[in-house]
Amino acid sequence: MRIIHTISELREWRKSAGRVAFVPTMGNLHAGHIALVREAKHRGDALVVSLFVNRLQFGQGEDFDRYPRTLDNDAALIAAECDNAVVFAPDEKELYPHVIQQYKVEPPAIQDELCGAFRPGHFRGVATVVTKLFNIVQPDVACFGKKDFQQLFVIQSMVADLNMPIEIVPVDTGRADDGLALSSRNGYLSAEERKEAPRLYWHLSRMKQAIEAGERDYARLAAEVVMDLRIRGWNEVDYVETRNADTLKPATHTDHHLVILIAARLGHTRLIDNVEFRY
Ligand code: PAF
Repeated sequence: MRIIHTISELREWRKSAGRVAFVPTMGNLHAGHIALVREAKHRGDALVVSLFVNRLQFGQGEDFDRYPRTLDNDAALIAAECDNAVVFAPDEKELYPHVIQQYKVEPPAIQDELCGAFRPGHFRGVATVVTKLFNIVQPDVACFGKKDFQQLFVIQSMVADLNMPIEIVPVDTGRADDGLALSSRNGYLSAEERKEAPRLYWHLSRMKQAIEAGERDYARLAAEVVMDLRIRGWNEVDYVETRNADTLKPATHTDHHLVILIAARLGHTRLIDNVEFRY
């Protein structure tokens, strides 16, 4: 395994790397990331995993400063999965030499919905850094988790709209035994909050079952979830939404490929999750 910190070294390596599979991450890897690595490593001659905590996608007051930076541990985890992987770990100056990124990639209106309504500018930051990473790594294929369903949608539509020659592979959400979606932010939860957190997946599963059984009043189902989470002491429920999984538009009764998305705060930690299904 090789760690590369500079764009010039990565570009040099890329010249003879053949078909490249790519997993962009912000580091602090967990089993969910490892699933992405396992999916990606068979899809190319070479694998690149980037580790970069991207300031541009964090809002004011969010957890940019305390986001865990665990390069040595991350590199060891990647090496255990793929001994000839390249870890691309640029510092901020390398990726943002002007401090303020001058050109930004502006996603369409979906960037202001769902998570975007609560994290203004977040998807612009994601689309911009992913474009920069794609331009540097020049992957043939890149893997993204379905846990960040809206992010996956933004990246897929960006790649299509900007004619980027990259295959985007969605990877299923990794879950703990009790159903909690794996996330670096789970590490912020207290022991008590950690016990409560799987409630999100429990609700998503119940909503899915209700819809499969014929329920079509998505707003009523969502209102029940909001009420339950409030009673149980969750701080904020940002949204509970049933959407068309192909377009991310609000689901109609004739849509049969759906995704139910949820975002809520437990203590100081904002958790997101979703279930995608066909009926
Ligand atoms: O999903 C993430 O970890 C980040 O949003 C990404 C795609 C690496 C961009 O910073």
